[in-house]
Amino acid sequence: MKRFSNKGIEALLFIALIQVLHIVTAGEHGLDLRSLLAQLGQGSKSVHLWHCEIQNYKGDFVRVLPEIRSALHSLGLDADRIPLIAAGGINSPQKVAEAFAAGASGVQAGTPFAVTEEGDAHPTFKRVLAEARREDIAVFMSVAGLPARAVRTPWLARYLEKEQVLQRRAVRRRQCTLAWDCLAQCGLRDGLPRAGQFCIDHHLAAALRGDTERGLFFRGSEPLPFGSEIRPVRDLVAHLLG
Ligand SMILES: Cc1cc2nc3c(=O)[nH]c(=O)nc-3n(C[C@H](O)[C@H](O)[C@H](O)COP(=O)(O)O)c2cc1C
Ligand code: SF4
Repeated sequence: MKRFSNKGIEALLFIALIQVLHIVTAGEHGLDLRSLLAQLGQGSKSVHLWHCEIQNYKGDFVRVLPEIRSALHSLGLDADRIPLIAAGGINSPQKVAEAFAAGASGVQAGTPFAVTEEGDAHPTFKRVLAEARREDIAVFMSVAGLPARAVRTPWLARYLEKEQVLQRRAVRRRQCTLAWDCLAQCGLRDGLPRAGQFCIDHHLAAALRGDTERGLFFRGSEPLPFGSEIRPVRDLVAHLLG
């Protein structure tokens, strides 16, 4: 297809695909990949990928990876040259092997590495992530307008109780709360009713300090390879490589 001969669009598509897979596998969501890729093909809409409605997906690399590959082929792309990275819930050698068998070019693990001994996060930050049980983890809209998953700290629990009210009352503010304007599009500052209504900087900074009351602790949904143990990164890599 002519429009994909442009290297810039190919690069954008490549990055976006990683993100599609990333978002899809990160939650119990679903999306019509084919229409998404078709939208990407129109170039100007590529960023709208982030705003796609995703629902009821049962994170399944075995199904999604071949679907993406065949969708790429049907768009006339050289699909075999586009690396697909499976991300979200990679916590065992079996998951790694399964992803590669389904056509992944690589895998990405987030939370398992975040809690390793060598990770430079606050010890409390690692403990919050490692000790979270499934029922402690919540999915909500981030201020950037994307679904996010984090540990339900007292602050997050209170925020979620009033999220809908805050979203209904969202109004554009004259200026950003922290005057940093860290986001090009911020649900709180710009009064976007579908996005989160909190200052992400404020709560990420609290997490950085190990503040379990007010912190925003992003976390994947799946159990960690070593449960709540904080272990050296060497152990993790050895484990994942089987
Ligand atoms: C501490 C932490 C910070 C994260 N920050 C971001 C982020 O800035 N942007 C993003 O798209 N995902 C972010 N994520 C989500 C991860 O990229 C990934 O989707 C999620 O952790 C699921 O993968 P996992 O099961 O390997 O952790 C973050 C995850 C963690 C644990
Ligand atoms: S997240 Fe906070 S600091 Fe960033 S733009 Fe929004 S209000 Fe400003």
